[in-house]
Amino acid sequence: MISEPDTKTIGPYRGRISATVVVPGDKSSSHRALILAGFASGTSTVTGLGTGDDIQSTRSILAELGVEFSDDNVTSPGVRGWGEPSMALDCGNSGTTMRLMAGALSAAAFESVLSGDTSLSARPMERLVGPLGALGGHIVTSGGTAPLTVGGPSVELRPADVILPVASAQLRTAFCLAAVQGTEPSKIVSPAGFRDHTERWFAAMGRGERVGESAFRIIPGVIAPATYDIPGDPSSAAFLWAAAAVRSGSSVTTPGISLNPGRIGFLQVLEMMGAHIEAEVTGAILGDPVGTVTVTGQPLRGVNLSGPVIAGALDELPLVAVVASFAEGLTRVTDAEELRTKESDRVTSTVAMIQDLGGGAQELDDGFEILGLGGLEGGEVKTHHDHRIAMAGAVAGASSHAGAVIHDAGVASVSWPDFYEVLGSLWS
Ligand code: S3P
Repeated sequence: MISEPDTKTIGPYRGRISATVVVPGDKSSSHRALILAGFASGTSTVTGLGTGDDIQSTRSILAELGVEFSDDNVTSPGVRGWGEPSMALDCGNSGTTMRLMAGALSAAAFESVLSGDTSLSARPMERLVGPLGALGGHIVTSGGTAPLTVGGPSVELRPADVILPVASAQLRTAFCLAAVQGTEPSKIVSPAGFRDHTERWFAAMGRGERVGESAFRIIPGVIAPATYDIPGDPSSAAFLWAAAAVRSGSSVTTPGISLNPGRIGFLQVLEMMGAHIEAEVTGAILGDPVGTVTVTGQPLRGVNLSGPVIAGALDELPLVAVVASFAEGLTRVTDAEELRTKESDRVTSTVAMIQDLGGGAQELDDGFEILGLGGLEGGEVKTHHDHRIAMAGAVAGASSHAGAVIHDAGVASVSWPDFYEVLGSLWS
């Protein structure tokens, strides 16, 4: 038999959990802090950066453009001083890197090429073209996907009012990063529920204002050097919260977590299912709330999920499927067609994961249904090279009857390299 070095066996673990865990820095905030530090001329300070490979992709690209990193200091000539890259800028597996840097570089006076790995090269990028093009930015896709060619000598920015059909924080941020380099205010509107880190930070820096529930007006100008203390990643903490939620009487506390309103959808879902949630705001980074969350497991029931809660729990929907399998009754997730555009088609890969672990799951066009029977048997999980499927499968395996074998387990390093050790430590 051929041995598979990248396979992890998880659980089954018995007994209640009671743990306090500080999770690594928020991935979304880390990308934004690095890019905004790169926009500023001078030295910014960024502490508590996320530890995943995706953050390294953003950092390497900024370094190629002329930004320097030393400990927590980020020193830049400013966005207008960035130098033309001598090679394609490799975004690895990171959709956020590609879309945010496409926005930033679409307004540059030089041309850049943004490329990615096989999975990223299959993800939709055409959706950037309308909003960035409306601003006068330059972006050309390769048949709708990466590689992207952005910026160039013919770029002439103009103000624009853009309406997006999807609640995508990546697209809104890409638009903000281009529009702030213009000369007159621009506006972006989309359905609600998205994470608004960029917009809160821009507002705190005098670079924009929220108009109504989901429009944002960008005020062009300089981004000054700043200090960014990155909070913990709620999308990473979610795996630990889920581990507590599926065991009655278990609890996990995570201090210093981003409580951006667009990031707490999973906590709302856990509460609807019957888990006990305590969330206390203890501070903020540039107007973006940070706090302590404790999740305590109680008997769970199936729920119907649709509308804005879906955008607020988007990255956690594979975990929702896991928790729903430990609940009693049917859980139905709809309005989640965006799941099909992630690191894998997460409708298909989530349903396959639950079925492979012995659960009841079926695909819907825009989501899935899970039949909760109070637990999972266990089994083998194929990750589809998607970090969140690997990690959700591990949480399921930990509390299943027979445990789980995760193939291609190392893909978790995209967002949280130490994840399996931390998950296992909940029972030590
Ligand atoms: C992100 C936004 C979300 C999310 C992704 C990170 C961000 O994507 O799924 O993991 O940092 O802006 P969409 O903007 O495509 O919804």
